Amino acid sequence: MWTMTPVRTMSSEISNILTHGDLTFSDFVELALYHPEFGYYAKPENRIGKEGDFVTAPLLSPAFGFAMSRLAGEFLGGMSDDVSTIVDVGCGDGELILNMAAADSTGRARFFGVDRSLERVSSAASETEVAFVRTLDEVPQQGPRLIVSNELFDALPFSRLVQRGEHLHELWVTERNGDLDWQEHEAPGAWEDYFAMREIELEDGQFADVSMEWEAYYTDLCRTTPRGLIVTLDYGYPEKQLFHGRVRRFGTAAAYSQQRVTRDLLRDPGTHDITAHINFSDLIRAGERAGFDTLFFDRQAKFLLALGITEHELFRPAGDVSIDSVAEGVDLIQRREDARRLVLPDGIGEDIRVLVQAKGIALNGWTFQRKLF
Ligand SMILES: C[S@@+](CC[C@H](N)C(=O)[O-])C[C@H]1O[C@@H](n2cnc3c(N)ncnc32)[C@H](O)[C@@H]1O
Repeated sequence: MWTMTPVRTMSSEISNILTHGDLTFSDFVELALYHPEFGYYAKPENRIGKEGDFVTAPLLSPAFGFAMSRLAGEFLGGMSDDVSTIVDVGCGDGELILNMAAADSTGRARFFGVDRSLERVSSAASETEVAFVRTLDEVPQQGPRLIVSNELFDALPFSRLVQRGEHLHELWVTERNGDLDWQEHEAPGAWEDYFAMREIELEDGQFADVSMEWEAYYTDLCRTTPRGLIVTLDYGYPEKQLFHGRVRRFGTAAAYSQQRVTRDLLRDPGTHDITAHINFSDLIRAGERAGFDTLFFDRQAKFLLALGITEHELFRPAGDVSIDSVAEGVDLIQRREDARRLVLPDGIGEDIRVLVQAKGIALNGWTFQRKLF
């Protein structure tokens, strides 16, 4: 007898798993984003960029790569070693690290893009001098390293917690009448400890979106960087702001699809990005414990302006640019606006924070430390 093999989908995978018991929300996010076949980041058709589900700084404007390449140039100029290593962790399609490699004129750097899902890196990228690998451990540790990450930490799976009176609960995912739904369970003691150690008291009914992976992954970056600079750009706050009972009573978790944001985190897993703002205090402390000094912690706009982003051609006065057609003019206006969005005070220039930590190299005199205003 001929039988049809059932079509496997993300929904059928999750339903199967849920027959064995509920999933923590964190495990649900792991599947929704990184399931090897159906996860959001495993599918090249899920697009990040101006026409995609959401846009990141490297894909918004080449002015971002220009500013970061200046930083790379300054880093390489300050090192007397024969070879330094420049790494973009969570490099996505590789736009930033490819830009940085193309801008290098010293010939004294090797470039690595690290991402757990390399499916979005184009085949043309393999013909460049950038090596793309899936884990940090595949990047050589000898010599000084400049480690950059943009929106890596906010893409790590996170847990949802909620305070109910005296009790801290963790949110799990269950199936009810064929639909995914929430289920609260008493949170493991490790989460009580997490907040107690940070002297954070959640209010009754307050939600918190949080991951212990933020600190663990950053500790790993520090461990594999005996000497160098770690530059982290991400959505997030210091912990007292992140877990503020009034301002962020419902946490920060959000799902993005087609440039729209929703709080319906369980809907259509695999078709949208799920993200939460990170606790920068965890990263700062992890770095300092590993012997790093904090050189900069502020908004992206300040960082990019100090690096000299406005010297990029897209910031030139309009009168200095010649155009041959209306279409070219319209395109240029759009590209100029995109470049400005990186540093304007009402978008990613304001919302993304930059943390720079250093060990075993100069702690002062970096361009990004310039006081502008
Ligand atoms: C929001 S995207 C940002 C991509 C890129 N940095 C950009 O700005 O366009 C986050 C990226 O981090 C990657 N990622 C998540 N967890 C990772 C891990 N543990 N190691 C390496 N990459 C990871 C994801 O696969 C994804 O490509």
